[in-house]
Amino acid sequence: MNQVFFTGSGSESNDTVLRMVRHYWAAKEKPEKFNIISRRNGYHGSTVAGASLGGMKPMHQQGGLPIPGIVHIDQPYWYGEGADLSPEAFGIKAAQALESAILDLGEDNVAAFIAEPIQGAGGVVIPPETYWPEIKRILAKYDILLVVDEVICGFGRTGEWFGTDLYGLEPDLMPIAKGMTSGYMPMGGVIVSDRVSAVLEEKGGEFYHGYTYSGHPVAAAVALENLRIIKEKKLIEYVRDDIGPYLQERWQALASHPLVGEARGVGLVGALELVKDKATRTRFDSELGVGGICRDMSVENGLVMRAVGDTMIISPPLVITREEVEELIAKAELALDLTLEKIRSLS
Ligand SMILES: Cc1ncc(COP(=O)(O)O)c(C=O)c1O
Repeated sequence: MNQVFFTGSGSESNDTVLRMVRHYWAAKEKPEKFNIISRRNGYHGSTVAGASLGGMKPMHQQGGLPIPGIVHIDQPYWYGEGADLSPEAFGIKAAQALESAILDLGEDNVAAFIAEPIQGAGGVVIPPETYWPEIKRILAKYDILLVVDEVICGFGRTGEWFGTDLYGLEPDLMPIAKGMTSGYMPMGGVIVSDRVSAVLEEKGGEFYHGYTYSGHPVAAAVALENLRIIKEKKLIEYVRDDIGPYLQERWQALASHPLVGEARGVGLVGALELVKDKATRTRFDSELGVGGICRDMSVENGLVMRAVGDTMIISPPLVITREEVEELIAKAELALDLTLEKIRSLS
């Protein structure tokens, strides 16, 4: 992957993806390969193409989305949707939804499949181990592009440079942002494989697509310095070998809390599923807004833990220390205790 189309954000990156993917197939004289398959509850940004590629219903309800030519398949969310299946069996089933969609639409009408390696905004959905290998098996059978959205997973979040490395994927396009500058300046991009850039260069003519701030020199300088520091301080190795495993071990301890049905994570992302009944994975009545209560308790006590429904998620900085992990865990535990107290007072 040797070319980058620079943008100002992850959303702009995914707008670029949508146009580039369709332009690629048109350049190959296959304009009917127009549909993009994505996933329910995936998140790819807030612009028209980003929110359409994303699979979030409440976003689609605002502004008449999704735009045509985007098909959403099931997500690999075992805890929430796996029912009686084992995680392994459910991972295969969720992946096979891709093959069904390709066959329903017809391979000749499908341009690409887009997915986050781990769904971030959807609730840190870590796919079962069987999921990505089965997706790879399916993609090998059909001539469609793979777009791996690295906006959250990229630049060390999972303990590898990219989520793509974690799962051994070979994307054709890779939208990036966030960790590229560690957020100190807005910058994003789409990393383009040689397979795609060769076609665009030879047959695509001019790509009528560009942003005033693409490759902005101040953002680029900050990104380069950020990458230099990540390498110099060996932050990827630190997340992979030291602080990531440490956080995950401590995070797992929260699974014994009466409110927590599952504690999961990879590297420096984590999620807690808040449930009424751990054994049956039964959720609280959504009217209670348990996730929101827990988030408010947490933020009041100085820990930014986000609520996605009743799933609590964290994404601490790559430089977090062991002492700070202890503080994070203590604050998360306090938020859980206070939430339980509040739920009991309401019933
Ligand atoms: C996976 C993913 N893609 C795209 C985006 C959109 O990026 P931005 O908010 O920079 O537009 C996000 C933002 O959270 C994201 O998590």
